[in-house]
Amino acid sequence: MNNDFITSYQLAPSILSADFSRLGEDIKRVMDTGVRVIHVDVMDGQFVPNITIGPVVVEGIRDLVHEAGGVLDVHLMIDAPERYIDDFAKAGSDWICIHAEACTHLHMTLSQIRAAGCKAGVSLNPATPLAMLQEVTGDIDFALMMTVNPGFSGQKFIASVLPKIARARHLLPDEVGLEVDGGVAADTIEAVLDTGANLFVAGSAVFGATDPGEAARGLMAAMAARA
Ligand code: DX5
Ligand code: ZN
Repeated sequence: MNNDFITSYQLAPSILSADFSRLGEDIKRVMDTGVRVIHVDVMDGQFVPNITIGPVVVEGIRDLVHEAGGVLDVHLMIDAPERYIDDFAKAGSDWICIHAEACTHLHMTLSQIRAAGCKAGVSLNPATPLAMLQEVTGDIDFALMMTVNPGFSGQKFIASVLPKIARARHLLPDEVGLEVDGGVAADTIEAVLDTGANLFVAGSAVFGATDPGEAARGLMAAMAARA
């Protein structure tokens, strides 16, 4: 696993917006443009209303992503995620992110992710205070700030989260990555870049575009301009 990705500028297209009848082709198309982080949105119909992807899909795409030099960034929007960490790790996940709101024993579950050989992340919903991260800054490899309420792709970007993201960058050690997820697109990425975030999830802005490769290149150009 390439550890540099966590602290460098990376676009992380979310396969939730891909065409599942040709998932491999869609992944290959964005990786051909230089994408190295593939974001996988896991939803349980409990923590969020939607039900999406399980470990079997991670297993299905792991070789394709790893052989192209990429990592699988698995975002668990599920209650009591400790029940499924080991399954997702075994399936080939490289980064596993859990929600602070969904986790009773946050420190323990983060340790479980690292013990399974994965990078550990914590995600906060738009209304969740940054203080939820305060006591685990030394136990995470990245933090993920939601700029939509989790559950669906294609929602409107919530700009009022931006100051919290900037404060997160100051709170977190330099070696901890800062990821932003929800409504990231050509018209919002500059404001997100201003916060100091370095990892950018984009679902509909990439796979909803007529040419996902071109859309990915456009977003990566905005990031490269800040590098
Ligand atoms: C939302 C998911 C996101 C979503 C992003 O619950 O966590 O990763 O797929 O989609 P866009 O970029 O369309 O908001
Ligand atoms: Zn996500």
